[in-house]
Amino acid sequence: MPTTTPSPPGSAAVLCGLAGWVPPRVVTNDELAARLDTDDAWIRTRTGIRSRHVAGPGQATSDLAVESGRLALRSAAGPPPDTVIVTTTTPDRPCPATAPLVAFRLGLSGAAAFDVGAVCTGFVYGLATAAGLIACGTARRVLLIGADTYSTIVDPLDRANAVIFGDGAGAVVLRAGEPDEPGAVGHFDLGSDGAHEDLITVAAGGSRRRGTAGEPSRTERHFAMRGKEVYRHAVTRMATSARASLGQAGLQTADLDHFVPHQANLRILHSVADDLGLPRERCVANVDAVGNTGAASIPLALADAARRGCLQAGDRLLLTAFGGGLTWGSCLLTWPAHAPCPQPERTTP
Ligand code: COA
Repeated sequence: MPTTTPSPPGSAAVLCGLAGWVPPRVVTNDELAARLDTDDAWIRTRTGIRSRHVAGPGQATSDLAVESGRLALRSAAGPPPDTVIVTTTTPDRPCPATAPLVAFRLGLSGAAAFDVGAVCTGFVYGLATAAGLIACGTARRVLLIGADTYSTIVDPLDRANAVIFGDGAGAVVLRAGEPDEPGAVGHFDLGSDGAHEDLITVAAGGSRRRGTAGEPSRTERHFAMRGKEVYRHAVTRMATSARASLGQAGLQTADLDHFVPHQANLRILHSVADDLGLPRERCVANVDAVGNTGAASIPLALADAARRGCLQAGDRLLLTAFGGGLTWGSCLLTWPAHAPCPQPERTTP
């Protein structure tokens, strides 16, 4: 579904705050290999992942969201947000949404607050939602948080998925500004294909799977993914979506300074970069240290790159995501003059 960039004065969403936060507990490949039939070499070769962070006992998605949100607000000068969006696949509960609690805990009671669900594409869908609210004047300042605790839905005995996913949160603050100023996001491409909804699922816990046939089985309660098929879709959809965003802006791959893909796994990222004809070194990647963190992965990768000084004012970035649904999306972002990323209280290793 192509969308056009808002163009009236003061109606563009401009990045002015950014932070990432991961829980302190690090789980290495060797630690997983001690309890699963896997090994460090297999995991690194197939996924590029060395370690991931995992939430502590009782630590919920909102806890991670609040930490990243607080840091992002601290990094952004200006008034408090009037809108809080949390995008997640692992909300604290099916009801209510996680965002109102996060807003309350951040001292933002009264703000509009709601969740966006698009699995690993959630952050790009959330950006488009925030940009739309700003474009129509309903919001002037939005706190958007991508947060996921996959450790709560992945079966710890499922070696195929336990090695891939990690927990984390990333947040951005967006303010109303001009479409051509550094920091502006735009040229969104969003899409979905529900015919493949069975490739990435949690079968139980929603309205489809009720208690009529007894308690859900262990398999139904956990995250399931058909990895090989997901891999193929991810590469194709991300490359196509990336091209669609570039096409809307009248740009070529060569015009990009950085490609910031959803950190699914390193092979997918490199395949997409190769497909686009983009040198792999322009692909921002931190999946080795955090794994696939779902809706958190793009803001975590951005925060990591900003903290390492890899992003310069005026750099042109393309963000591209893919996830269950299937869903996908891309948008362009010019890096703002004032780097909106303070030293986080906790960093990736
Ligand atoms: N350790 C060791 N062996 C493992 C393993 C692990 N952690 N997980 C799976 N295997 C085994 C499989 O059981 C299979 O064994 P078999 O041949 O005896 O059946 C073998 O390794 C090969 O599995 P295969 O699925 O062919 O591996 P692959 O090269 O496709 O890699 C994934 C598997 C999951 C890493 C890969 O398919 C993938 O990255 N998919 C996309 C996942 C993703 O990024 N999803 C997020 C999208 S938002």
